[in-house]
Formats: sequence, C-alpha cells, structure tokens
Amino acid sequence: MGKLKLAVLISGRGSNLQALIDACAAPDYPAEIALVISNVAGVEGIERATNAGLPVLVIDHKKYPSRAEFDLEMTQAIEAAGVELICLAGFMRLLSEEFIDHWHNRMINIHPSLLPAFKGLDVQARAIAAGARFSGCTVHYVRFDMDTGPIITQAAVPIHTGDDADTLAARILVQEHIIYPQAVRWIAEGRVMIENQQAIVDGADAPTAAVINPLP
Ligand code: GRF
Repeated sequence: MGKLKLAVLISGRGSNLQALIDACAAPDYPAEIALVISNVAGVEGIERATNAGLPVLVIDHKKYPSRAEFDLEMTQAIEAAGVELICLAGFMRLLSEEFIDHWHNRMINIHPSLLPAFKGLDVQARAIAAGARFSGCTVHYVRFDMDTGPIITQAAVPIHTGDDADTLAARILVQEHIIYPQAVRWIAEGRVMIENQQAIVDGADAPTAAVINPLP
C-alpha cells in the first residue's frame, strides 16, 4: 500500500515539522510529506523542509485580499500535490469555515495544552497562572471553533514549582515531537475512527497508572 501523503502547514520554527520529517525518514513509516506550506517567508521551518529536500511553498496571506482567497490558494496547492492529510504545525492563521469543511476529518493540529483546557494563545503561562499541576499537548482533528475537534492523543507533563512559560513549553515540546508522528502513524494505518465526534484509536491501550503532583 502507498504511503499517506501529508501537507505540513507552518508559520515559524518548525520543530514539529522536523519531528514529522524524522519519522518519515524511517522506511517503515506509513506516511510521507508531499508539501510544506509556510505563510511567512524566511522562517526556520522553511530551512528544515529545504534541507530535507521537500517541496516548500510560501503563500503569504498578506498578498491575498481575503481569507477565502488565501485559503483557496492553499487548497489548490495541497490538492495538486495529491495530499490526503493536512498537519497544522504551528500554523498561526485562522482558517475559513470553507477550508475547514473541505478538509473535514482530513486535517489535524497539535496544541500545547491538555484540551479542552487552555485553548488559544499563551497557554503555558496561563496554565502556570491557574496553578494547574499538569499540562501537556493534544493532537486533534480540526473543527471550526479554535482548538476543538476529536482528540486523537494527549501527553501529560507535570508543572514544576518555579516553572515559567519557557521551561514548561520546553517540557511539553519534547512530548509534542513524540505524539504528533505517532498520531499520523495511526491515521495512516487506518486505525483512527471518528464516532460521535470522538476519535478512537483501534487497538491502542490506555495506561493504568495515575500520576499525582506533587508526589505524596
Ligand atoms: C507548538 O508548541 C505547537 O503545539 C503549537 O505551536 C508550536 C509550534 O512549534 N501549535 P514548532 O513551530 O513546531 O516548533
């Protein structure tokens, strides 16, 4: 069977893109990156894609009169590349309802919190300010309301006394780079089913142990 063709949409650093590039380098990984799109020129993620020999397009939203026209340009490029799944990876533009509907159940995102807690921006600082003992990251299908949609997988990390947004973000990012390629693998293997707006991973087990923070 052929590999699942991905488009990865970025706006910046591209460390999650890099995690997907690295995963795709393994011969038995069931997905491949057909296209990288950045809406911002000159960002580190573009360099990562170029270094990996991947096709990259810069589609600058500022050059389009409307969100709809920008999104249409992206859809045309993504379809021309034969893409089957879009991976948002630090893509910092809101997408139109048309785009999201068009890619329904064919577009996923990674977000640095345990959704549905802490949607939106500055999530690490907000988790710390709220006094939460855990944060983490979530891979989910994209729906119109920001940072909603069926959750495929999550990783939880403890929040330590003295953490700031940067130390917490770094701890979460390590887990992002594990769970994003894992979620794509499950989708490519046809193991992710959506039923009643919940994603179920066929044959995947939940851990049995609880984690308590601070330790008793
Ligand atoms: C990550 O924290 C991701 O969860 C969020 O934006 C950040 C992107 O980082 N959506 P990078 O560009 O993948 O390094």
